Amino acid sequence: MLIHSQTCTLLFIHAIKAVAIISASERRDIVRSFNPHRNASSSTTPLQVGNGDFAFGADITGLQTFSRFSIQSSWAWHNFSLPTVEHQTSPSDFTGLYWWAYDRLVNYDMPNPAESEISNWLVQNPQRLNMANIGLHFFEVGVTEDTIFDKSQYLDLWEGTVISSFNYKESDVSVQVWCHPGQPVVGIAIKSDLVSSGEMGIFLEFPNSDLNKFDAPYVGMWNDTSNSTVTMRTSGNTATFRHKLDDTSNQVSITWNTDKEMFVDRLNGTNKFIFRPSGPDTLHIVADFSPTRNTSENIPTYSTVAEESQRWWTKYWESGAFIDLSAARNSSAKELQRRVILSQYLVAVNEASYNPPQESGLVNNGWYGKFHLEMFLWHSLQFARWGHLDLLARSAPSTYQRFLKSSIDRASAQGYQGARWGKMTDPTGRSAPGEINALLIWQQPHVMHFAEYFYREAPHHKTLQEWDDVITASADFMASYAWWNETTRVYDLGPPMYPVSENTNPNATLNPTFELAYWRFGLHIACQWKKRQGISIPEKWLDVRDNLAQFPIIDNAYAVYENIPNMWRNGSTTLQDHPAMAGIYGLLPPPPNDRFNLTVMQNTAKLIGALWDLSDSYGWDFSMLAMNSLRLGDTDQAISYLLDPLFAFDDAGYPEGGSRVPTPYMPNTGGLLLATAMMAGGWDGDEGSKFPAGWHARVDGFTPSL
Ligand SMILES: *[C@@H]1O[C@H](CO)[C@@H](O)[C@H](O)[C@H]1NC(C)=O
Ligand SMILES: *[C@@H]1O[C@H](CO)[C@@H](O)[C@H](O)[C@H]1NC(C)=O
Ligand SMILES: *[C@@H]1O[C@H](CO)[C@@H](O)[C@H](O)[C@H]1NC(C)=O
Ligand SMILES: *[C@@H]1O[C@H](CO)[C@@H](O)[C@H](O)[C@H]1NC(C)=O
Ligand SMILES: *[C@@H]1O[C@H](CO)[C@@H](O)[C@H](O)[C@H]1NC(C)=O
Ligand SMILES: *[C@@H]1O[C@H](CO)[C@@H](O)[C@H](O)[C@H]1NC(C)=O
Ligand SMILES: *[C@@H]1O[C@H](CO)[C@@H](O)[C@H](O)[C@H]1NC(C)=O
Ligand SMILES: *[C@@H]1O[C@H](CO)[C@@H](O)[C@H](O)[C@H]1NC(C)=O
Ligand SMILES: *[C@@H]1O[C@H](CO)[C@@H](O)[C@H](O)[C@H]1NC(C)=O
Ligand SMILES: *[C@@H]1O[C@H](CO)[C@@H](O)[C@H](O)[C@H]1NC(C)=O
Ligand SMILES: *[C@@H]1O[C@H](CO)[C@@H](O)[C@H](O)[C@H]1NC(C)=O
Repeated sequence: MLIHSQTCTLLFIHAIKAVAIISASERRDIVRSFNPHRNASSSTTPLQVGNGDFAFGADITGLQTFSRFSIQSSWAWHNFSLPTVEHQTSPSDFTGLYWWAYDRLVNYDMPNPAESEISNWLVQNPQRLNMANIGLHFFEVGVTEDTIFDKSQYLDLWEGTVISSFNYKESDVSVQVWCHPGQPVVGIAIKSDLVSSGEMGIFLEFPNSDLNKFDAPYVGMWNDTSNSTVTMRTSGNTATFRHKLDDTSNQVSITWNTDKEMFVDRLNGTNKFIFRPSGPDTLHIVADFSPTRNTSENIPTYSTVAEESQRWWTKYWESGAFIDLSAARNSSAKELQRRVILSQYLVAVNEASYNPPQESGLVNNGWYGKFHLEMFLWHSLQFARWGHLDLLARSAPSTYQRFLKSSIDRASAQGYQGARWGKMTDPTGRSAPGEINALLIWQQPHVMHFAEYFYREAPHHKTLQEWDDVITASADFMASYAWWNETTRVYDLGPPMYPVSENTNPNATLNPTFELAYWRFGLHIACQWKKRQGISIPEKWLDVRDNLAQFPIIDNAYAVYENIPNMWRNGSTTLQDHPAMAGIYGLLPPPPNDRFNLTVMQNTAKLIGALWDLSDSYGWDFSMLAMNSLRLGDTDQAISYLLDPLFAFDDAGYPEGGSRVPTPYMPNTGGLLLATAMMAGGWDGDEGSKFPAGWHARVDGFTPSL
């Protein structure tokens, strides 16, 4: 499956940014100085190779020999069979719930207790599959990670390859793995005399799906393969497997470089296949996961996979924006540099597909492997900020275009104009039933936010045209959702709604600060979009944009929403979850003067710093707070948010999930890159690097934030 990508406008962009302040060789040395090294498998994260759409997670052997890390993609998903309870046998039997929204009843996709079976099914299906595991097979029984020696492994970030070695029975074994940048293909080189002596082979095994909302550190069920069949065809040096699990069917082809025969045995009663090679000492294996590939002829060779990976990754590092903190004699600078480099690797491996990324990337499953449209921005906007618009262009605006019809249907069934984007979503665009899922609204202006950065990087008529339909539909919904309050003579947002912080009473949530700011921002960009094209601006957009309620202020600070009793009392539960008010001056550009008071913003930042329960936050809050601190002129505070002990990144750069989400929690990675891009490029009206002068930072290729 070739990755969909858009190139025309993008070539032009790279051409104007060709001035490299930090040379290719300087970049290479910095990148490589952060190559992760391991001498044991991590109990929580693999080392990965991948291309954004497909990724392969390796244990200490470079494969999945001892730890069942994933081989995941954007396209391999599975449905469990539908419930058999009467009147709940089809997705169309799900009817949701009616809640009051002002003067009318609105139907929402919320789990209905009277139809719990189909509601649950719709939440849990489809799930993202771990497609298979490939590992070394020892013909001696009982070999474990503890009985192999001199284990050593590193990930070469510059070329996108994992190189592993160990010693077993006095023999050295080395394993190198690469991923093709444009195809779901891995190339594996295994070098050892154990291969020719017949003491070591490889295995390929297929798991079933399981029903865990959070599947980490391993995805899939290995001890029960009922409902699944695997058929194998061999031809010359290729074995092709078709794994059928209920209605899902995936294909894997394995080719090898030896002329000698490779025997493939199936372990009785399992979906595990053992490849028994008979030499040479260096075995080159290519594993192809394309669901559509026809013949073995077009499977690339090992050396092609390796060369393509080298070429792609080198260009990735050389062409994007870059931050060099190597001259700083400050441990914070060194750690920030480490996080930035490793994050840049991980986003290209896990987050650059034609679908939005899931919270756990292609490592584990969070929320059954589905993606969340309100998190799309946190994952993916960074590509636009780091000179990799081509990677963002794989999913935007195409995701919105694909989901446009179902989102228009969603809005219209609720009596609104335009398109209401879903939340916890699968590749068909269906949003899973859920009270929060149905009532969240801040995913809506992401369309304009993405579009505006696209336009900043590629200010062409083509960009305006490409985004116009989804911006129009999104703005139409926003304008019709806002409710004219006859008493106050302003447009209100909610109730019912959930704001960014998902812990409020939805029936009491009225005019949350962040959503008010974001609604205005989104509608303003929508208006600009029409203006730039010389198209007249819908009156309703202007009316709502200019007449939204003012931000709620309690105790001289911005509040989560209007009229919260004890908003800022130490210990109050409103001081938990996301402190989204910080986002209105940081993640978003400053609101206009007649709606914004800098002193109140400063008070808000101080109170959040003093009182907010960050242990209950999600990691990207630290990046949001850092951007707020930056715009308030406090770089040291921004840096300390980005290095907060609760915002942790492991030895290979994976963001730790914490108490509420599994590891890795990739919105943290995207958030870190967004905040550091702002630190490097400044923002409109205050351009340029904000790194502490003593760090002697060099930055290359950044444009200012909005
Ligand atoms: C393995 O790595 C750890 C942490 O880097 C180090 O302390 C230890 O000495 C290493 N062990 C070997 C055998 O290299
Ligand atoms: C799962 O079922 C839904 C609803 O019938 C369908 O739209 C979707 O395509 C199915 N997905 C897979 C992977 O079978
Ligand atoms: C097999 O299918 C049955 C019926 O759909 C289902 O209840 C069961 O969970 C499935 N088992 C596995 C391991 O997928
Ligand atoms: C909100 O109001 C609806 C009725 O419109 C009710 O069914 C629902 O239970 C209420 N939810 C909460 C959390 O109070
Ligand atoms: C498979 O493993 C899971 C989790 O370890 C366990 O709950 C389940 O009972 C096992 N199933 C079988 C058939 O052994
Ligand atoms: C696997 O099954 C086949 C036939 O059912 C049998 O001949 C063979 O001995 C079995 N192999 C093992 C390793 O159990
Ligand atoms: C596979 O072959 C069929 C006909 O033999 C052709 O229509 C199809 O396009 C081919 N697919 C690919 C991916 O080459
Ligand atoms: C109008 O706004 C006021 C102040 O925000 C609010 O208390 C009231 O509930 C709103 N009116 C309606 C009908 O929602
Ligand atoms: C901004 O807020 C501060 C603190 O509440 C207040 O003293 C000041 O008058 C406000 N400024 C304006 C222009 O409203
Ligand atoms: C808030 O309460 C906590 C725990 O009760 C206390 O440790 C902290 O000092 C208080 N903070 C302020 C600013 O009063
Ligand atoms: C490192 O830089 C940060 C940010 O300027 C500063 O707060 C910190 O004190 C510095 N650390 C040392 C050891 O100089």
